[in-house]
Amino acid sequence: MSGPVKRIGVGVVGMGWMGGVHSRSYLQIPQRFPEAGVQPELVICADDVAARRQAAESTLGFAASSDDWRVVVEHPDVDAVDVTAPNWLHHEIATAAAQAGKHVFCEKPAGRTPEETRAIAAAADAAGVVTGVGYNYRWAPMVQYARQLIESGDLGALTHYRGRFFAGYARSEHAVLSWRFQEEHAGAGTLGDLMSHVIDMAHFIAGPIDAVVANQKTFIAERPLAPEVEGTHFTERVGGPSGAVTNEDYVGVLVRFASGAQGTLEGCRVIAAHDCQMALETNGRRGAASWDFERMNELRLAREDAAGNLRGFQVVPSGPDHPFHLNFNPGPAIGLSYEDTLVIELHDFVRGIVEGKQGPTGLGAAVAVADVQDAIRRSWRSGSWESVGDTGAAARTEP
Ligand SMILES: NC(=O)c1ccc[n+]([C@@H]2O[C@H](COP(=O)([O-])OP(=O)(O)OC[C@H]3O[C@@H](n4cnc5c(N)ncnc54)[C@H](O)[C@@H]3O)[C@@H](O)[C@H]2O)c1
Repeated sequence: MSGPVKRIGVGVVGMGWMGGVHSRSYLQIPQRFPEAGVQPELVICADDVAARRQAAESTLGFAASSDDWRVVVEHPDVDAVDVTAPNWLHHEIATAAAQAGKHVFCEKPAGRTPEETRAIAAAADAAGVVTGVGYNYRWAPMVQYARQLIESGDLGALTHYRGRFFAGYARSEHAVLSWRFQEEHAGAGTLGDLMSHVIDMAHFIAGPIDAVVANQKTFIAERPLAPEVEGTHFTERVGGPSGAVTNEDYVGVLVRFASGAQGTLEGCRVIAAHDCQMALETNGRRGAASWDFERMNELRLAREDAAGNLRGFQVVPSGPDHPFHLNFNPGPAIGLSYEDTLVIELHDFVRGIVEGKQGPTGLGAAVAVADVQDAIRRSWRSGSWESVGDTGAAARTEP
């Protein structure tokens, strides 16, 4: 590290699951990335549930809290606003934060609709602030390594890409009707939630997408109403009143990449046997790579030898020679975790603020994802191939 450590005042809005993860991750940054010279400080958080505000002060160490997110946005010691509130609040909070001159990190999907994502991006552009969006899976060391191999031509030109996020968090019909299952609050269902990660990963590994043809399905049409003050993601309730699910459980997409590679993208929140299978597989002319978050510290790799033979996959464990591994562990096969991917992504965000440099997973990447989501929605209606349009090219920014 050269020069003095720079303090960045952070305000977090929404102290549910992600609010806690983000806050802990900011605190890890000076230890994991001392060379960045950044000291994030948890200045103030907001939540409309008093118990969550109190827990954020007592266990995470926030200096203050409020039931009004505007107090966070306007706080003079807050340099960066981190939006971990539910989707329906992303647009209003992120836009207000940018207009107040604050750097903005927004969890995916950064708004309920492609229009909201674009509006947030436009506000951030106009304000000239640094942005970040929660595409944490692409920051995993073995995903970064796969990308390096592709960039260096080790796998040859890509011909195929398959991306998927199969989750079982809503497989039970007793999983409650939280905001995630309501179009009004979440926007799309699996398309906004799980497929945001899948599309961003496809952009990162295989480049811009030209055209899509897609389908969707809701398998569980009614769910029990959510209790008032409880977690939203994994809560179940047996019996009691129920309500209608108004967005999709499953999304399937055939894609054509601008490079000529062909692919499939799939996501489901109610699938049996897979709990968090955020995965990719890509085949090039001279090799292939396969990664699954459930085994996030391994890359399955196939490469031609000097004689041009290709003999199937070998498992490569994460080690000090892979990106970011040494920031966490000194030896090979001593793995990272889910929260470590957020430490890496938030480190990139605060480092960007200090260096005045926009990182690869900002709102530009989110607009590129939104453009694909837009085309997928059009394809649901038309039943035909739909073109993504020009802005997909923005996805290929370098880390
Ligand atoms: N990147 C990832 O891996 C990942 C994982 C989960 C969720 N997410 C995203 O993070 C966001 C939050 O998801 P979550 O699972 O933490 O949700 P959650 O429901 O657990 O938490 C949301 C919090 O926001 C609070 N809130 C609601 N209205 C508010 C208001 N007006 N002002 C302040 N706070 C308010 C709620 O009380 C709750 O504590 C979503 O956009 C989701 O898509 C990303």
